[in-house]
Amino acid sequence: MRISRIILKNWKNFKEIDVLVSDRAFIVGPNASGKSNFLDVFRFLRDVSKPGGGLQKAVEDRGGIPKIRCLAARAFPDVEIEIHISESEESVPAWKYSIGIKQETRGYRLPILTYEKVWKNGQIILNRPVPDDNKDKERLTQTYLEQINTNKDFREISRFLESTVYLHLVPQLLKHPQSFTGPDLSGDPFGKGFLERISKVNEKTRKAWLRKIEKALKVAVPQLKELKYTEELGRPHLEAVYEHWRPKGAKQREEQFSDGTLRLIGLLWSLQEGDGLLLLEEPELSLNSAIVSKIPSIIYQLQKTRKRQVILTSHSIDLLNDRGISLDEIILLEPSSEGSNMSVASSIQEIKAMLAGGMTPGAAILPRTKPKNINQLTFELF
Ligand SMILES: Nc1ncnc2c1ncn2[C@@H]1O[C@H](COP(=O)(O)OP(=O)(O)OP(=O)(O)O)[C@@H](O)[C@H]1O
Ligand SMILES: [Mg+2]
Repeated sequence: MRISRIILKNWKNFKEIDVLVSDRAFIVGPNASGKSNFLDVFRFLRDVSKPGGGLQKAVEDRGGIPKIRCLAARAFPDVEIEIHISESEESVPAWKYSIGIKQETRGYRLPILTYEKVWKNGQIILNRPVPDDNKDKERLTQTYLEQINTNKDFREISRFLESTVYLHLVPQLLKHPQSFTGPDLSGDPFGKGFLERISKVNEKTRKAWLRKIEKALKVAVPQLKELKYTEELGRPHLEAVYEHWRPKGAKQREEQFSDGTLRLIGLLWSLQEGDGLLLLEEPELSLNSAIVSKIPSIIYQLQKTRKRQVILTSHSIDLLNDRGISLDEIILLEPSSEGSNMSVASSIQEIKAMLAGGMTPGAAILPRTKPKNINQLTFELF
């Protein structure tokens, strides 16, 4: 399953957008244009759908409706999300799911649904509020999506959304998880529990996946000769043999790995794990530009065997210089006082013409994401 289209109203810095999403989507735009906010919609839907989650918690984790609702919202202040889900890139959507959310005007000011709708193959199969909702308004504090006794007819959507993975691996968190205490974040976005994730996969699969990563790492980090999983005192670790002047090389653990090595391991592991939607936040960070330029083709290779949709954000020209990227795969964000606009790059004639003239997607698009007055950016100390 894959998300083929998304329509948002009043979601954070998007007042109103309607965008087609491809199987491999690159989200680009200036700083603070809403790239992470866009990925957060899919994390929000995951948080609503997953066991122990639900609408109330998903909204609360984001600081409440006032934080989610677009500051540019005026006459119609409800937050609305609609997604179309297809089986493959070509087909008409098998499913559509949409919700409207607002905050109660009185009492506990809980987030409540203004509607919740589900379509299957073009037929509407759920249209809330249903009569029971009108008799007991409290029912509107929960989606049908999150409840197993109400989502039977569309549990597939719930399972699909629940399987979404977001990765923005912060190497220091993985290396020193004990130094970062406090409640764990939903879905482990920053990879604090990444080694536990590796430990939960059965041994045979784990070995196979690590072998593939090892093969890629030997190219990216030539001193690294071997990568394996170990456990000590019940705690999972990654161990590598690094070649140096001594004949046998030296063993190193994850806390000694370089930031780029860990981010690359995280990326390659996640690409192999599961088949739900994968959200990658700036996968270029800490990586050498030659490696970054390979990321689009690595994802493409993965998608030939595994039908996993990947949506990533990026600022990297190296990544977007890959001529194999189609303009339908690039979504450009442009901020305005009325919230950010989103357009698929293939809908912008100027960009199409630049590509036809021989430019790479990165060279044609990224200059549009730089601040207008960038030359004035200086930092005077005295
Ligand atoms: N409810 C809201 N209404 C309007 N704008 C909002 C709302 N919530 C957050 N924002 C704005 O969204 C912006 C942050 O967006 P986001 O983090 O998605 O940017 P980004 O494109 O990922 O940037 P970067 O490239 O720096 O990571 C901030 O400027 C913030 O003010
Ligand atoms: Mg961001």
